[in-house]
Amino acid sequence: MEEMVATSEQISLDHEHALLDLVGIHAGYGTIDVLHGVELAVQPGQVFALLGPNGAGKTTTLGVASGQIMPSTGSLLLMGKEVTGTPPAVLARAGVCLIPEGRGIFPNLTVIENLRMITFAGVSFSDVLDRAFLQFPRLGERRKQLAGTLSGGEQQMLAMSRALASDPAVLMLDELSMGLAPIIVEELYEQVGHLAESGLSILIVEQFAQSVLGVADVAAIMTGGVIQRIGNPDEIAEELTEVYLGIS
Ligand SMILES: Nc1ncnc2c1ncn2[C@@H]1O[C@H](COP(=O)(O)OP(=O)(O)OP(=O)(O)O)[C@@H](O)[C@H]1O
Ligand SMILES: [Mg+2]
Repeated sequence: MEEMVATSEQISLDHEHALLDLVGIHAGYGTIDVLHGVELAVQPGQVFALLGPNGAGKTTTLGVASGQIMPSTGSLLLMGKEVTGTPPAVLARAGVCLIPEGRGIFPNLTVIENLRMITFAGVSFSDVLDRAFLQFPRLGERRKQLAGTLSGGEQQMLAMSRALASDPAVLMLDELSMGLAPIIVEELYEQVGHLAESGLSILIVEQFAQSVLGVADVAAIMTGGVIQRIGNPDEIAEELTEVYLGIS
């Protein structure tokens, strides 16, 4: 964690100092191979945007990084330590936190009850509430509302508050912007930027580049289960258009 080497100019993968590191990952579902040698390294305090079209393997990559999908070959490393095959709950306790597509909140519980669910050893409930409502005042106003009745943006805020309650080392977000109005996405990404400034490493998966551009330090394009390009977010955004138009 002390070895801060990431800069926005960094393009090539630095496996050595990475907080979260995927090396030569092959993985899939049963007999279906989806990832074909994925290389990815997220540095401390870095926002890494993994972009790609529908079905590229982005969610599967997060599944591997969070321990939910066991790679058939390749390694997962956390702070330089090999953790391939470590159960997701153990990885979560070690600081790997995933906000899944769909946000993983409990729709029939209130905001407060959702936040209470995340309190475990060492985290006090009142601290969790204080932090959540300080970061997202709107959640405080809706504290007694059922999570399922919140707007999409508020649900994402709740998911982020839950995730941050455990003080993760790396936060992974799957399609933060999905189904949300652009102004809400901007607001959420502003928070993501603050989190990165405070030293959190963040791996974000999005289908479209624009919303994540403002906060990403590095971006990568994935198609067909392979990372095709890693570069600075502006360059990658341009190339992404070509990928989506099938000109690659
Ligand atoms: N549970 C599953 N069982 C079998 N195949 C799956 C499963 N989940 C995903 N796949 C397949 O794996 C490939 C990659 O899917 P994945 O969900 O990782 O893509 P993605 O980049 O996240 O796409 P999207 O942008 O649509 O979320 C797809 O071909 C998909 O059909
Ligand atoms: Mg996905």
